[in-house]
Amino acid sequence: MTASNSPPVVSRSLHGNVLVVSIDHPPVNALGVDVRRGLLEAIDAAQADAAVAAVLIVGAGRNFIAGADIREFGKSPQQPSLPSVCNRIEASTKPVVAAIHGAALGGGLEIALAAHYRLVVRGAKLGLPEVQLGLLPGAGGTQRTPRLIGAAPALDLMLSGRHVPAEEAVSLGLADRLGATDDVLGEGLAYARELLASHAGVRPTRAATALANEGAEASRSAIEAARKSTAARQRGLFSPLKIVEAVEAALAMPFDEGLALERKLFVECLESPQRAGLVHAFFAEREVAKAPETKAARPRPVATIGVVGGGTMGAGIAVAVLDAGLPVTMIERDDEALARGRSHVERVYEGLVAKGRMSSDAKAAALARFTGSTSYDALANVDLVIEAVFEDMAVKKAVFAELDRVCKPGAVLATNTSYLDIDDIAATTSRPADVIGLHFFSPANVMRLLEIVVPGRVGPDVVATAFELAKQLRKVPVRAGVCDGFIGNRLLAVYRTAADYLMEDGASPYQIDHAMREFGYPMGPYQVVDLAGGDIGWAARKRRAPTRDPRMRYVQIADRLCERGWFGQKTGRGFYHYEPGARTGTPDPEVEAIVEAERLRAGVSPRSFTDEEIVRRLMCAVINEAANVVREGIALRPLDVDIALIYGYGFPRYRGGPMKYADMLGLPNVLVELERLQQEDPFFWRPSPLIVELVARGADFSSLNAAAS
Ligand code: 3HC
Ligand code: NAI
Repeated sequence: MTASNSPPVVSRSLHGNVLVVSIDHPPVNALGVDVRRGLLEAIDAAQADAAVAAVLIVGAGRNFIAGADIREFGKSPQQPSLPSVCNRIEASTKPVVAAIHGAALGGGLEIALAAHYRLVVRGAKLGLPEVQLGLLPGAGGTQRTPRLIGAAPALDLMLSGRHVPAEEAVSLGLADRLGATDDVLGEGLAYARELLASHAGVRPTRAATALANEGAEASRSAIEAARKSTAARQRGLFSPLKIVEAVEAALAMPFDEGLALERKLFVECLESPQRAGLVHAFFAEREVAKAPETKAARPRPVATIGVVGGGTMGAGIAVAVLDAGLPVTMIERDDEALARGRSHVERVYEGLVAKGRMSSDAKAAALARFTGSTSYDALANVDLVIEAVFEDMAVKKAVFAELDRVCKPGAVLATNTSYLDIDDIAATTSRPADVIGLHFFSPANVMRLLEIVVPGRVGPDVVATAFELAKQLRKVPVRAGVCDGFIGNRLLAVYRTAADYLMEDGASPYQIDHAMREFGYPMGPYQVVDLAGGDIGWAARKRRAPTRDPRMRYVQIADRLCERGWFGQKTGRGFYHYEPGARTGTPDPEVEAIVEAERLRAGVSPRSFTDEEIVRRLMCAVINEAANVVREGIALRPLDVDIALIYGYGFPRYRGGPMKYADMLGLPNVLVELERLQQEDPFFWRPSPLIVELVARGADFSSLNAAAS
């Protein structure tokens, strides 16, 4: 309830004979219970007041309405419900106009669709993004949208969740008019008065005829096409097929029956674990950007950036920076390497132009911001440098010595190292407070995750600068501490190890990949090895061999493949066999024979595993190590781990990340499984003390998220 002395979230004011109903519920005017109640009261008041001839709904602040209040999902519903508010708006005997600026999303658009007329101003974005939260539009959206704009465009909106700009909203028929100015209230009032002057009257969207005009056959074929492509493209997701079903009802049923079906399907989605996972991801994704240093310190200004190294990562990072509109100076070892680095960058842009995703002018403008040099002196004035040279401590230290020599005081010195000790790198410079890790993922201009690795002596303003840079580059930043592999690669290592154990114990790499794809990963672990190149992991294993704990079981199968030069896609063979130029491999009987021989060598009698057992083991390994990562403070909270794995490693978003998934499995169940596995291999499967402690006090990972936020 709103406290009696706080301003109402929905206010009413009479402008001539138009009642302006303004929603003022920061930050985004979400439709919490007070807003719903206020809207209902306003509509009722308008019916009862002879001085009111029309109603105009507007949003205060930067948006119209961002949708239902996502924080209410999963709690007991409070009246009035959103569908009933929408129905009441539509049933108004006086014309209702929605004047939209900023976001009109989900329930926000459904309010607008229940109104009789819609005006948009430039910058407005309209959409039905419920699918991204594991839901479907549940306040009439699945029934009104097809009637207003036809089945095919309605399905596109609901299945993609995309935001439609104002101009397109008008051309789709989603909005009636584009305002001439940005003054949403003025434009809305003028439109309402114009409608009154022309006696336009009420116009319920439930009676709109686009669906009927489209023709039953066309609608049905749009629905069938959506069903097919959804099954193929949104594999494993629950709500998209429910959306198709609801739109089918719009075609087949009277409006009210369609609404009732929509509600039933909405509740099914609301109660699904996928909704819980996706809503967790929504909030976690916003929470990760709020590291303590971002509150405690001001970022340093960054207007120019240097990148050292023009290989896979250096070039990708350069593109990410150029795309954000910043200039880049790239340093390479010699002219030849620099030319290669530049051509890597150019190739990315050429690809975008060829695919029609970028104009030649935009490409030229981006490349105009790019300069290269073989002399470190060219970095004398940059505000921030990102080093992306070979993963070799001696090489990195030599580069940082140069940076220390040439860079201006206050420049941020960042490394893109995957595994190396950044404290050690920082200690070799005269300015450890300026040294930080910025761990991008490949391809760096595409992948959204940016691990911000915080060494012990770095200044808080440098950390804040890294978070600000992430925002500029449109990356999702996750704060990590220094350890071998930080958050993501450390968890990847145990995931791979657990998979290798399963493989040696009897599961084929193909079954393991299949099981993990069914779980929701886009690729299985061995497909990923083949894609990244088996040689990378091989080098890391060789590097670690001298320090490997003798109690650790070591599976040699991957080494046997690498000894044959089978590094995956780039060599045509790895765990799979690849036809020349093919990116999808086929199972290789010779690999299976090698696996068999290795089992024999290791004295293992193979047994069979179900797909479910495979998933359970790999997930237990990841969850257990993730708990250690949180316990050691490498990740601030469990939710940081979730976001790192969703954005950097293909963990299925609809499962919320490994920690959320563990909570949904029930942490005591995870512990029982770990203790069972511990009988097999007491070294690898030691339950994390954090899990033991949480289970003992009846808590789970979510309690640590709440405690930290
Ligand atoms: N409910 C509750 N809180 C919301 C919210 C919502 N619908 N949308 C945003 N917020 C919160 C965010 O969590 C954030 O809170 P914080 O400051 O505490 O972190 C704050 O509002 C600001 O959000 P952003 O940081 O995302 O602000 P931006 O300006 O970058 O983006 C936005 C604004 C485009 C509106 C974006 O927030 C957004 O896409 N929101 C979600 C929209 C959505 O999914 N709507 C559908 C909801 S489901 C529904 O309506 C069901 C219905 O059909 C029945
Ligand atoms: P790469 O081998 O493709 O590129 C390295 C580049 O650095 C080469 O072009 C080389 O000429 C240049 N270089 C080497 N020494 C140099 C020096 N002293 N001065 C200037 N340039 C120099 O390597 P890649 O894959 O780009 O990796 C770079 C770094 O990024 C490594 O630390 C790696 O661990 C890390 N990384 C790699 C990822 C990947 O998927 N490849 C993902 C995330 C991080």
